Formats: sequence, structure tokens, C-alpha cells
Amino acid sequence: MGLPGRRNPASLRRSGRLPVYVAGVFFVASILLMFRDEILYLTTARSPSLPTAGSSDGAGLIQRREELSVNKPVLRGHGGKPEKHHSVTERHRKVSAKRRPKKKKATKAAARKKVMAAPVAAGAELNVPETCDLSKGKWVFDNATYPLYREEACEFLTAQVTCMRNGRRDDGYQKWQWQPRDCDLPPAFDARLFMERLRGKRLMFVGDSLNRNQWESMVCLVQPALSPGKNYVTWWEGQRVVLHAWEYNATVEFYWAPFLVESNSDDPKMHSVRDRVIKPEAIAAHAGDWLGVDYLVFNTYIWWMNTLNMKVVRPTGKTWEEYDEVGRIEAYRRVLDTWATWVNDNVDPARTSVFFMSVSPLHISPEAWGNPGGVRCAKETAPVQNWHGPLWLGTDWDMFRAAANASRAVGRRRRRVPVTFVDVTAMSELRKDAHTSVHTIRQGRVLTPEQQADPATYADCIHWCLPGVPDVWNLMLYARILSRPAAATGRVV
Ligand SMILES: *[C@@H]1O[C@H](CO)[C@@H](O)[C@H](O)[C@H]1NC(C)=O
Ligand SMILES: *[C@@H]1O[C@H](CO)[C@@H](O)[C@H](O)[C@H]1NC(C)=O
Ligand SMILES: *[C@@H]1O[C@H](CO)[C@@H](O)[C@H](O)[C@H]1NC(C)=O
Repeated sequence: MGLPGRRNPASLRRSGRLPVYVAGVFFVASILLMFRDEILYLTTARSPSLPTAGSSDGAGLIQRREELSVNKPVLRGHGGKPEKHHSVTERHRKVSAKRRPKKKKATKAAARKKVMAAPVAAGAELNVPETCDLSKGKWVFDNATYPLYREEACEFLTAQVTCMRNGRRDDGYQKWQWQPRDCDLPPAFDARLFMERLRGKRLMFVGDSLNRNQWESMVCLVQPALSPGKNYVTWWEGQRVVLHAWEYNATVEFYWAPFLVESNSDDPKMHSVRDRVIKPEAIAAHAGDWLGVDYLVFNTYIWWMNTLNMKVVRPTGKTWEEYDEVGRIEAYRRVLDTWATWVNDNVDPARTSVFFMSVSPLHISPEAWGNPGGVRCAKETAPVQNWHGPLWLGTDWDMFRAAANASRAVGRRRRRVPVTFVDVTAMSELRKDAHTSVHTIRQGRVLTPEQQADPATYADCIHWCLPGVPDVWNLMLYARILSRPAAATGRVV
């Protein structure tokens, strides 16, 4: 999936807009500086009552800014009709009909089959082409099929993400479908189909609390296929939270490793440390638990964003105190290299599919999307719409590119293990409306009315409400996984 387009700085200068952009950069930088202490606090908050690693992951100083030219984000308002909704539904019905052949519908299905754009590969249930860049597209209001599940119907959601239960009034953020430019995503998540693919297998999200956010979404998406009493979640089997689905002999797991490599923040329940220190070349203590997993979904980003430099244990260091400070991007590249080497040496591409989730963006400076009267992401009720030009949210595109490059590079190493880089960054940058904001927890408790009235201090514009944006990320995973034959899971690049 592609990298975002960049504007030529020379053309900016010619058009005389450079001073405006420079001012923008300074403005965002100063906002980030202003919120730094608060962000550090968020980072060190933890929730005693939740069985999860309930703290919010911090983000802080972000020194580099890149211009992201969003290609004509032509988004419709709430009154708009989803453009391709009909055809998407048609295609899904075709697939459904194929799957569950009922006599009455068989002839209809056969007739529809003629107009199918691409044949479904042998052994695959969907036909989203591997070559289709799912990251390019637009958000379309769709209250007919979204949300993909109801907040109150998913028993697995933690109080961190149940925004409506925590007092949010508007629910429009649940009702946007992502319409890729060049192909269609499946209109819905067929839990039974997905769990059949997962039968006898393990799916594991490895990373930080954004990946836990996505795990929570995934267990809600699969829940309709699970019988009551035949599934349960165990909180913290070591580094893991595990949904056991007995009927399928399958698990959907989350593994806490916020830097992927070993760090002093690895205790899933007690990871709030002031100075985060990592061992960029040490991954074995975690990676031993990833062996033999069938679907591995990695991420790491937000925990890097507190400081400009990373604290890295010296080669001779015996304790977490014996560290050097290294530039963030340099340390990030070393970690990605350690990760890539592990994937190359330990993943059997005939069995295991590997995904890497791209940067999940933050929305803490409303000036960036043209709302100078806003307070962080609070009070935002719709995606960024009709915005032409760059969105300066502070996303570190160097880190984005490093992860994209590292993912690609694994496929060129000796054993050619394909890694699918799932680009959700630019699409999620448009979703200023979808964060948990003040409708979340702090230190294990839902924010009080007084705290909710003070979003400048308390709004969490890092994590996402559920149902919401992570459901769409999972729909992308679902589309990729079910468009591949079950036997040969890896993608050849
Ligand atoms: C969906 O949205 C449209 C336009 O806002 C509205 O007229 C309609 O009542 C909504 N339908 C549902 C089921 O909420
Ligand atoms: C259950 O799944 C595991 C892999 O997760 C596999 O090793 C085992 O053989 C499966 N058991 C049965 C009874 O299918
Ligand atoms: C891309 O990955 C290759 C292989 O790991 C590495 O040698 C190269 O330095 C990387 N480039 C960037 C810009 O990260």
C-alpha cells in the first residue's frame, strides 16, 4: 500500500505560500510543547480497576513535519447517499450466496456471477485484489450498514473505548464506511466466515495500546460467530490477553510489547515508567511467544513520541540505567531491523501471514484542520471534509516510511517472507471525530463531569471509540486474509 503524496517545496515557494506553512509548523510545534506535560501524565496514568494495561499511551514532541497532500477528500455530509453502496452490497451478496448455497437463491447467484469484476481465487472467499491500494479513498456516511456491531452488544469492550456509555451524545462517528478509490472493501464483516478461516489457528496483535484498541474491535467483530459459554477472555497470560473460541479451537490474542523489542515498559500492568529505555537488538524474550502464530499483526509508534531521543541500553549495559541517548528515527530503524531479522529467521511463510499496521495519527491541534476555536479533538463530530492540501497533525512520516520500507525489505531477504504493510495513516488522519476524547477513563475511572468539561486537560485524542475507526482497519485485514487461499497464506511480492 502506497506512500502519501508529497508536494514539491519549490512550487510552494513559487506560489508564495511558504511563510504560511512555516507558521503552521511553528504553531503545531508550540501546541505539542504546550501539551507535553499533560501527555507525559497520560502516559504515566494507569488503571487499577481494569484488568487491561489501561493507561493511555503518550505522545509528545514531534519535531518533523511533512506535508501530506490529501487527494481531494471529497466527503459527503450526513445527508449524502453512499455512492457505491449498492454495488458493494451486491458483490457481498454474491459472495454470501456462493458460500451458503440455498436452492432458491442459487439461480440468482449464478446470474449475478457473470458481472463479477474478478474471479475469486481458488480457496479464497473474497476477491479484493492484492494490488488494490486500500489506503486511497474516501469516507462515506453510511448509517445503513454501520456500525458493524453495536457498542452495547459487545461484551468484550473495556470502559476505555465505550464512548456512548461514557456520555458521548453524537454517534455519527460510528457510521462512516471507507470507500477505496480503486476497488471495494467488503461491506460487512462476516464473523462466521472469518472464524472458519481461523479454525485451529491463532491470530495475534503485537504492540501497544493502539493495537489493543484494534484487538478489542476484532473480538467484537467475531463475537456473532461465537456461542455463549463456548468462549472466554483471559486477561494477562503473561504478556497476552486471549480470546479463546472453543468451537473453532482458535484464539484472537493481544501481546503487550510497546516497542516490539525488550524495554523497561514491558510489564503489561505496570508499564508506566518515567524514562523509557529499550534494548534495540533484544527481541527473543517476546518473540518466543510469537512462534507458530498463524496471523501476526504488529505495530509500534506512539511510545516513541514522548521524547526526541530514545534511551538505549549500551551494549555493555547491565541495567536499565546504563543507557545512551540515540536519535528517535535511528533507534526506530534499529528496532525494525531486529524485528525484520526475527521475521526472516522464524516465520514460515507457508503457514504464517505477517502484517504491520502503519502509524495511528493523533488529533491534538484543531488549527491543523481549520478549526481554531476547537479544543484538541473534543467536540468534533464529523471527519475532515473538503480539505485540499496538507494536514499537519504532527504525524512522523519518517517513521511511517521506515516501517513501510522495513516491511517491504523482509520480502527481499533470504527467505522472502512477505509482510503486508497496512496503511491506515492518511485515512485515519481525516477522522478527527472518532477519538475517545473525554468519553473515556483515567486511572481506571470514567472521567467525572468536571473532567469532561475540561477537554484541554483531559481529552484523549490518541485512542479511538468503538465501534469506530479500528473496525475499518480490521475490515482491511479481513479483506486481505479472505482474499488469499487458505493454504498459501503468504503474499508473494
Ligand atoms: C440515516 O441518515 C439519513 C440522513 O441523515 C436519515 O434521514 C435517516 O433517518 C438515517 N437512518 C437511520 C436508520 O438512522
Ligand atoms: C487446535 O489448534 C492448535 C493450534 O492453535 C493445534 O496445534 C491443535 O492441533 C488444534 N487441535 C485440534 C483438536 O484441532
Ligand atoms: C530500507 O530497508 C533497507 C533494508 O533493511 C535498508 O538497508 C535501508 O537503509 C532502508 N531505507 C530507509 C530509508 O529506511
